[in-house]
Amino acid sequence: MNNPESKDVLTLEEASQLFQVSSKTFLKLLREEDIPARKVGREWRFSRAALLNWIETGNSRAYTSAEEENNAYFDQVAPVYDELRKACYGNALRDKLISRYTPPAGSQVADIGTGTGYLAKSLAQYAGKVVAIDSSTAMLEVAANDIIKAGLDNIEFLVGDAHDLPLEDASQDLVYANLLLHHLLEPSLAIKEMARILKPGGRIILTDVNQHNYQWVQQEKFDLWLGFEKKEIQLWFEKAGFIEVQIDDLDCNCRTSNRAGETFEIPMFLAVGTKP
Ligand SMILES: C[S@@+](CC[C@H](N)C(=O)[O-])C[C@H]1O[C@@H](n2cnc3c(N)ncnc32)[C@H](O)[C@@H]1O
Repeated sequence: MNNPESKDVLTLEEASQLFQVSSKTFLKLLREEDIPARKVGREWRFSRAALLNWIETGNSRAYTSAEEENNAYFDQVAPVYDELRKACYGNALRDKLISRYTPPAGSQVADIGTGTGYLAKSLAQYAGKVVAIDSSTAMLEVAANDIIKAGLDNIEFLVGDAHDLPLEDASQDLVYANLLLHHLLEPSLAIKEMARILKPGGRIILTDVNQHNYQWVQQEKFDLWLGFEKKEIQLWFEKAGFIEVQIDDLDCNCRTSNRAGETFEIPMFLAVGTKP
C-alpha cells in the first residue's frame, strides 16, 4: 500500500491507517460520525484534506452538505441547463478555446465537469476519443441524448468526481475544464488529478471566472468560490507540477443574473499548462 501521507485521495484501508485504527473500527466510525466520505461505485474514497479538517474542527457537515447541494442544484437544472447557459455564455467562448487549442486527429481528450457537453460535443469533431465526466447524472443524460442526435460515436460519458477522476494515469493528451473549478470544494486537488491523467507533454486548458464580490452566487447558484485570482491558479498549477504555465484574460464574460433581476458580467480567465 502507498504511504497515505503522500496521497490526496485515500482508500478505506489508507484512511484507517491515517487514523491508526483497523478498517473495521473505521467503518464503525463512518457509520456513527459525520466523516467526510465519497462512494465511487462500491468503494469508499476520502479526501485527505477533508479528513484532516474534520479531525481538526470535529465537524464535517459543511464539507458534505456543500458538495451535496451543488450536485442537487445541477441535477435539478439539467433539463433547462442549455437555456441557462446560452444566457450566461454563448458559443464564442467554446469557439475561441477550440480554435486556439484544437485537439489533434486521433488524440485522447477529457472534458471534466462537462455538464451537458458544451465543449465535449465540439472536441469530438477533432479528437480521436473524448471522455466527458460530470458528477451530475442528470446533466450527463441531457448530454448523451444530444450526442445520439448528433450521431457522434467517439464520446464516452462517465459519472465521476473531479477530485478523484475515474481515469488511468497518463491516459490523456488534453484535459479541458470550463467553469468547473468554482463549484469544487478543493480546486487544487482537482488540478492535481488533471495532471495525473495527462500524458507527459499533455496540456491542461482550464477556464473560469476572475475573482469577484457577488456573494449571492453562493446561495443562488451554489458556487463555492467567488472566482479566482490568477496568482492562486498559478500556484496550484505549479504545485501540480505543470510547466509553461500561462494565465491570461480570456476576453469573454460570464453573464449572471440574481433573483432580484440584476445582471452582472464577470470576466473570465484562461489557464494553460504542460505536464513535463
Ligand atoms: C457551470 S457547469 C459547466 C458545465 C460545462 N463545462 C459547460 O461549460 O457548459 C459546472 C459543471 O460541473 C459539474 N460539477 C460540479 N462539481 C463537480 C465535481 N466535484 N466533479 C465533477 N463535476 C462536477 C456540475 O455538475 C456541472 O455540470
